[in-house]
Amino acid sequence: MTVPVGLTGFGGYVPERVMTNDDWTAYVDTSDEWIIERTGIRRRHLAADDESTADLAVRAATAALQDAGLAPTDLDEIIVATDTPEVYCPDTASFLQHRLGAGEIAAYDLGGSGCAGFVLGLDVARARASLDGRTVLVVGVEVITRLMNWHDRNTCVLFGDAAGAAIVTRSSGAAEILAATAGTDGTHGDILGLEAGGTRLPFSREGAEAGLHKKLVMHGRHVYREAVRRMTEASMRVLADAGREMDDVALVIPHQANLRILEAVRAKLGLEDNRVYVNVDEYGNTGSASVPLALWQARQAGRIQPGDLVLLTAFGAGFHWSAVLLQFPG
Ligand code: ACO
Repeated sequence: MTVPVGLTGFGGYVPERVMTNDDWTAYVDTSDEWIIERTGIRRRHLAADDESTADLAVRAATAALQDAGLAPTDLDEIIVATDTPEVYCPDTASFLQHRLGAGEIAAYDLGGSGCAGFVLGLDVARARASLDGRTVLVVGVEVITRLMNWHDRNTCVLFGDAAGAAIVTRSSGAAEILAATAGTDGTHGDILGLEAGGTRLPFSREGAEAGLHKKLVMHGRHVYREAVRRMTEASMRVLADAGREMDDVALVIPHQANLRILEAVRAKLGLEDNRVYVNVDEYGNTGSASVPLALWQARQAGRIQPGDLVLLTAFGAGFHWSAVLLQFPG
């Protein structure tokens, strides 16, 4: 019997500090009612002043290693999906490798992949683990609230900070990755993202004074349409590739951007409420951390049972999308 390649350990970390919708009224002209009605978000968690991206990543990664019964020195590779890195260079993965006490292994970021990065990272890890049985740590982590504009009501109320992680390896006890897909449509690169800070528009004093370093461009309705379309299509694609039906799936875990997006995806996929995992009300949009955090929590809450088929689907700036179909061991 072939030994499956899949996920063996799950971890997550959410900072303690909580910011409610009412707390946002001190910064922007908004209300609890508007935010709940348009997004479903009630609270979000914020990194403490002395916490940065690598701190959150270490917490989630350590939890995943413990869950898998592994030591950091058992790792052969580290992938970190983040749009809010510890510093621009070197990547967050190098900080994580050092802080965990892992060996001198390959470690790299999937940066700028928007919120689709973690699920794409699982697909990359699957390929690496299939190659020679290596054990790969995949982390999704963001400290978005530190880099965004706290006075732009169109975006600031949407986000929160968190980290999630999983171990991908060849193991009889793994939640097997039955199928994975990912895609990109760069023609929509302008609907979501940061314009300043790269070679096209380097940081400058004038830019900083104009707030460009924190200006998240987001065409909300356009993002909404693409998000629903791409997460739905990616879900159907992995099911078709694995020769499975939506009826077989116990739980769908989509990127937690907005409750209305989750409900639209649920309706398009023809699912009942209890087959879509939702925690956006408590955490907001945590970017690359959103799917692994939800996966970790769903498992802890008993929402995933032995033998369950679980579908992860995500979208992000780029425009990128990704999906993975997992078969948990029976
Ligand atoms: N509080 C109060 N009013 C607000 C707020 C706020 N926080 N934000 C915007 N408004 C106002 C707008 O200024 C606008 O006012 P106007 O009509 O006077 O111009 C009004 O509310 C309506 O704005 P719309 O953009 O039409 O509102 P919409 O119903 O489209 O909801 C939202 C906006 C929630 C952003 C929605 O478009 C959405 O969810 N889009 C997807 C966003 C998303 O998922 N982004 C991804 C982030 S990154 C990632 O996940 C990869």
